[in-house]
Amino acid sequence: MVNESIEYYMPVNVQFGTNKLKEAGAQVARLGKKALLVTGNRAMKKNGITDKLINSLQDSSVKVTVFDDIFPNPTDVLVDKGAGIARKYGCDVIVGLGGGSAMDAAKGIAVVAALGRSLWDYIGENRVTGDTIPMVAIPTTAGTGSETTPYAVFTNTEIHRKDAVVSQYVFPRISIVDPAVMKTMPPSVTADTGFDALGHAIEAFMSILANPFADACSYESVRLIGEALVKAVRDGNDIEARGKMAIASSLAGMAIAQVGVVAGHGFAMAIGGLMNTSHGRTVGILLPHVMTYNLNTIPDKIARLAPAFDLAVVEDLQKNAENVISHIKEMMRDIDFPTNLGALGIRRIDLKKILDDSMNQEDINFNPRMIDRSSAENSCASFTFIIIHNRCCVFRSRLMNRMKSHSFTWFTDPYLLTRLFIQRYTG
Ligand SMILES: [Fe+2]
Repeated sequence: MVNESIEYYMPVNVQFGTNKLKEAGAQVARLGKKALLVTGNRAMKKNGITDKLINSLQDSSVKVTVFDDIFPNPTDVLVDKGAGIARKYGCDVIVGLGGGSAMDAAKGIAVVAALGRSLWDYIGENRVTGDTIPMVAIPTTAGTGSETTPYAVFTNTEIHRKDAVVSQYVFPRISIVDPAVMKTMPPSVTADTGFDALGHAIEAFMSILANPFADACSYESVRLIGEALVKAVRDGNDIEARGKMAIASSLAGMAIAQVGVVAGHGFAMAIGGLMNTSHGRTVGILLPHVMTYNLNTIPDKIARLAPAFDLAVVEDLQKNAENVISHIKEMMRDIDFPTNLGALGIRRIDLKKILDDSMNQEDINFNPRMIDRSSAENSCASFTFIIIHNRCCVFRSRLMNRMKSHSFTWFTDPYLLTRLFIQRYTG
């Protein structure tokens, strides 16, 4: 493979460091004098980060218009509205401050404000074919990697579908990656976004398009996440862990910018579009299942991640690969990360729609083990299983409580209850 033709393109100027936010104004001023600041109106505003950024911009003589309507899973309608505001105020630089939603919205606005038409006209690969308004990304979470990717993901409000703009023109010009702005991120967001980053790194590593350049980014990202994710969730003020996660996120972004992602993101995109779930949580829940699905196809590749997680390497390749998957599950347990789709409110009856939409997600095509509609239904039974398993647990614990209250202490066979549940819900 190393002798094949490979392109590595990463045109983003990444400015990393604690308190780099102070330099944002000077960096933005290199690109324009009228900025549209694209952000949310809650966390960043509340903890003073938005004001710090505005002060830094104004100190560098950059005029600021604030568009702070951003919400999770930004829509085509939201982006078109933001582009209208950018045009109205003659903005010549777009600044995205926030998680993936704010950065992706900023990318979309930069496209539509410069090239006209509507956001959904640019969905797909290489539909953006000219320069956009220059965009600066300032991530406040460590996960999406949008600060180093040519991707921006949106939800279509009419067809309830999540899809991406993919174009080298939507790389940010500059990304300011400051671990200090991530300190106030709540544990649940740290976990969700951290597992998104891990999903990027490992899915890129498993991709049929993987190459040594992307693998180097993925491997180091996995190593840093292995060291830091649990620490960052447990202690948000651990600035070293925050720094490692921030670098890991950008590195994973660099990997997916080259080789994309695989089935985990394919399913997660379908689920997110239909159910508006947390992207990182969905990706994290699916990650060990997708790795298990791919285990027999690429055991050597998955096994190569054992040292990244500081796991003892044994002679048996398969065992090393299994240990990697077990370790990821252990990390999930350590921070009470949900392990099943039922926790996202997904029901068995939702599966048909999810699977139908998944088959239209391009990421599925890059999975090392083929997935088609029937294999998704049959071989990906773990998909169904992880929903049913959760329902069993809920059902079992409710029934156990009821039994206890009636002193039926003899009725404690959990497998019997599971069997009863499956009969009840699956016929
Ligand atoms: Fe992702």
